[in-house]
Amino acid sequence: MKRQYKLSPSIFAANIANLKEQIEILESNNIELLHVDVMDGHFVDRMAFGADHIKMIKEMTSIPLDVHLMIEEPEKHLDSIIKAGADIITIHQESTTRLYSCLQKINKANIKSGVVLSPGTSAQTIENVIDLVDMVLIMTVNPGEGGQSFLPDMLAKIEKVKKMVGDKNIDIEVDGGIDNKNIDLCSKAGANVFVSGGYLFNGDMGEKIKALREKLL
Ligand code: DX5
Ligand code: ZN
Repeated sequence: MKRQYKLSPSIFAANIANLKEQIEILESNNIELLHVDVMDGHFVDRMAFGADHIKMIKEMTSIPLDVHLMIEEPEKHLDSIIKAGADIITIHQESTTRLYSCLQKINKANIKSGVVLSPGTSAQTIENVIDLVDMVLIMTVNPGEGGQSFLPDMLAKIEKVKKMVGDKNIDIEVDGGIDNKNIDLCSKAGANVFVSGGYLFNGDMGEKIKALREKLL
């Protein structure tokens, strides 16, 4: 059976002044997920989107929100992010010494949970939490900035995670520098959820979505 793939446009790359219009374009193109990057200026240098913004976005659309936490001590913010309406919360392996309990807490709230691997973190580091998650997010750039170039070395990591996941119902997401030239490579390696920021939001969004989907057929 062919695995179901999903696109998750990253609103970090959206034009906030036109956010409503851009979300409407995503909706009319049947986009599966909306990727929301939360950055705290510590775990990564930039700052972006807190719980209040997630709540506002949730009120604007019915597309499920795929919330990517790039923050230190995520355990302190889970309650507010859950309450704001996140549908999936992913946590960096590197961001907390309480990864297991954070994932337990998300699962208890009956929303989807995921663990994220930065480029320097190996696949083996998540072996002990794999049965707790609905998704593994493999960063294909260093976290914290949009518009960076895709790191081809991450393809081998996607393959390793795919092996670890086996037949389990766990999505494998890639985030960073995804475009129409590398999305099929990620898919062949085992990914089935694709974040796209700079590529998708610049130019004709409908055409960009089409170009990405064509590569996944
Ligand atoms: C980077 C963020 C990404 C980013 C992707 O740290 O996690 O979600 O917005 O943007 P592009 O596709 O431009 O790399
Ligand atoms: Zn992200």
